[in-house]
Amino acid sequence: MKNSSSQINKVTTNMLNSQKNLQSQKSSSSFVETKEIVFSYFSDFENNNTLALNKVSINTLPGQHVAILGRNGSGKSTLAKLINGLLLPDQGEVFVLGKNTADESEIWSIRQICGMVFQNPDNQIVGTTVEEDVAFGPENLGVPSKEIRERVDLNLEKVGLSDYATKAPSQLSGGQKQKLAIAGILAMKPQCIILDEATSMLDPQASKDLMTLISELKSEYNLTIIDITHDVENAIYADYLYILQEGEILMQGTPRQVFSKPGKILSSGLELPKHLLMVYSLMNYYSGDTLRELEQKFKNGIFTVEDTIKAIQFLKTQPQIDSFEEIENKQSSNKTENAIISVKDLYFSYQKSTEHEVKALQDINFEINQGELIAIIGHSGSGKSTLVTHLNGLIVPQAGKVLINDLSTDNKKNIPEIRKRVGLLFQYPEHQLFENTVYEDIAFGPKQFNMPQKVMEKNINEAIKIVNIDKEL
Ligand SMILES: Nc1ncnc2c1ncn2[C@@H]1O[C@H](COP(=O)(O)OP(=O)(O)O)[C@@H](O)[C@H]1O
Ligand SMILES: [Mg+2]
Repeated sequence: MKNSSSQINKVTTNMLNSQKNLQSQKSSSSFVETKEIVFSYFSDFENNNTLALNKVSINTLPGQHVAILGRNGSGKSTLAKLINGLLLPDQGEVFVLGKNTADESEIWSIRQICGMVFQNPDNQIVGTTVEEDVAFGPENLGVPSKEIRERVDLNLEKVGLSDYATKAPSQLSGGQKQKLAIAGILAMKPQCIILDEATSMLDPQASKDLMTLISELKSEYNLTIIDITHDVENAIYADYLYILQEGEILMQGTPRQVFSKPGKILSSGLELPKHLLMVYSLMNYYSGDTLRELEQKFKNGIFTVEDTIKAIQFLKTQPQIDSFEEIENKQSSNKTENAIISVKDLYFSYQKSTEHEVKALQDINFEINQGELIAIIGHSGSGKSTLVTHLNGLIVPQAGKVLINDLSTDNKKNIPEIRKRVGLLFQYPEHQLFENTVYEDIAFGPKQFNMPQKVMEKNINEAIKIVNIDKEL
């Protein structure tokens, strides 16, 4: 706790400094500046336009850490691609260190100034070995080979991958692959790194590691960081924050300014950082008078973990309007006592009985009842995916049993019925969508079960309503 609060104090001090900078510096010294940019995607197939960004103006300063926060589809990736010239605006202009992205002669220089790290670690690796991958960027820039060698060694060391130099990138974990991508960018001597959801596929520890590395590199090289994310926990460490909603800027300011309006953030469909969610949820139990007093005490809003602790300590001295027990009782549950999934003495190894055997699951026992919501948590490699792919019979137990109602997954005849009862949703959305339209994609599964046309149409329309997507897509 001591560490995290001193870290947050440091962040707060940085923010105050950066606020001063914002006031004293004019846009001529901006690092990235977008002026009222508008961008639409045009689809030949559908013959229509999707407005992705509408009059978006952002302004970042050299050495600043800017976060751009927004839900899926809010336009974050489009903005990232416009900043490094992968896309050009329909209206408005984008400047990187005063260079216009619409000026073709500047485009390579802009891409060298702003390196990008993407979401999927597997999509950005080009080399067959780790060191080849880092060398790729400087090679393309025509850097002499002796210097390439130096840059590769130096930057692999910076990201902590020196020991992996001659290994194949496929042997790296997700977090290490992202570090490799960063080494590749650093080898091109950029002044800015744009992270497009770079931590969203990593587990919490790897994600934290990567953000720590980024902040170390930022201070060492005075890098500008543009962190595009839907993760509010990362966003609180930024110097300045923009919230995008449906292609427009909904809010901007220092994280303290922005997070002091929790209602607006929640209504945009984003979450609050956990400590703020805790204190704002707690406020529901207190009267208006108490809340006004709290507001007086925290004129600059509640933002840090320390603020949160002080606010909770104050609330504890105040009378509650409703007891916690009453509220908990109101949250009725609709679960039953019928086990729908039973896992008994389950064992599974990859490459079983070879010297490469990996024991993925050992002695797993549990039951899940109809109507229950169960979380399975664990770090990368702990066996989560292996376990859930047992639940619809994609993997059959090597020892033990998996029963769906009373159907065992080790009997092939049961599989079609089991697949109807247990639907699986995987990590990468792209891997499970293959039809040309949203409607056809939803229809793919029901068609496999030879569902009558009428029933199928009714089910598809219900499904579309439940997940609230546009039927016309
Ligand atoms: N290649 C594309 N073709 C058509 N529409 C797209 C394409 N990429 C994104 N869009 C649309 O543009 C909007 C913004 O998308 P995007 O920038 O990817 O958002 P985010 O990165 O915040 O999830 C969304 O409505 C999305 O459907
Ligand atoms: Mg995106």
